[in-house]
Amino acid sequence: MTNKNLSLENLDEEFYQVTPEILESFPRFRLPLNLYIFKENVAQLEPYYRAEQRLTKEKREELFELSEEGLIFVARADHHIYAKHISKQLDLVLVDKNLKPSEIIEIFQIALTRRIHEFYEQPVKPTFEKLVSDISVLIEYLWEDQYRLKGLIKNLLTTYSLPNMAYNAGIIGIALFYDVQGKNLTKKHLTQIALGLFTYDLGLARLPKILLEKKQNLTPEEQNKINNHPLNGAKILRKLDITEAVTLQCHLEHHEYMDGSGYPRKLSGADISLSGAITALAHTFSEILTQNDPTPPTREILNKLSGMKNKYNPNLISSLSKIFIHDLMK
Ligand SMILES: [Fe+2]
Repeated sequence: MTNKNLSLENLDEEFYQVTPEILESFPRFRLPLNLYIFKENVAQLEPYYRAEQRLTKEKREELFELSEEGLIFVARADHHIYAKHISKQLDLVLVDKNLKPSEIIEIFQIALTRRIHEFYEQPVKPTFEKLVSDISVLIEYLWEDQYRLKGLIKNLLTTYSLPNMAYNAGIIGIALFYDVQGKNLTKKHLTQIALGLFTYDLGLARLPKILLEKKQNLTPEEQNKINNHPLNGAKILRKLDITEAVTLQCHLEHHEYMDGSGYPRKLSGADISLSGAITALAHTFSEILTQNDPTPPTREILNKLSGMKNKYNPNLISSLSKIFIHDLMK
């Protein structure tokens, strides 16, 4: 694609070029945002299309030709519209070279929390496959450049919801796996782990809301339901043909503690798998981050976790501190 005179000051700051692939992903004849055309004779952008107007077939063809030549732009001010749209077809993130890292992070947040929410609401093959597909895009994005993880780590979500918790646990857990396993990690293995991390509280999400919000003491039967949620999450995944231990352990062991005081199996020490130990720590970090007002500073959360070495793997606590403090200060 011909790249037109983009060295013009500020152009890249305020607008980004739209590729035919991106245009293709919009509704065919009614686009949700304004488009601008680069006029070569005056070397500036002019309005080309007003949002929501109907495109004729001819105008649509012309638009694609112009975009092929690199002449069509959208305003960065419309990023929120663009982000919502692109988040529904996340693989576009990998081809759109005009997005800034901060914009990509926002798109991943929108896409993944929505997919997790949809899967938690209806844990069936179609919602599961969409989630797997978006997780694969994230892994591909990180595989191209591992340092991109830093941006995601710096921008975890601070409001509480089960999908937000799962998103945070996914990002933190991936960072921990990278740190612990380094070069031994394969893309396939990382994807399997991420799948467990991004869905670890499925069993809890399937419990009736009235039970989750109950303030009074729980009956033994209700307590039993809560205690069994890790098993139920794994059970649903197995029904969806997920058999990999690294994925299932994220569900099964995310409430197990080093000293054996966790549930449902009261595992302890080395009996807890790496996936389980990482998910437990990522879950608690995310819980402290999202369930306190005001949001505590990272250092305070890390200090709190450092005092809980009886519950969480001390090596993982050190690794987490390294990721958040040492790595972020580089
Ligand atoms: Fe849980």
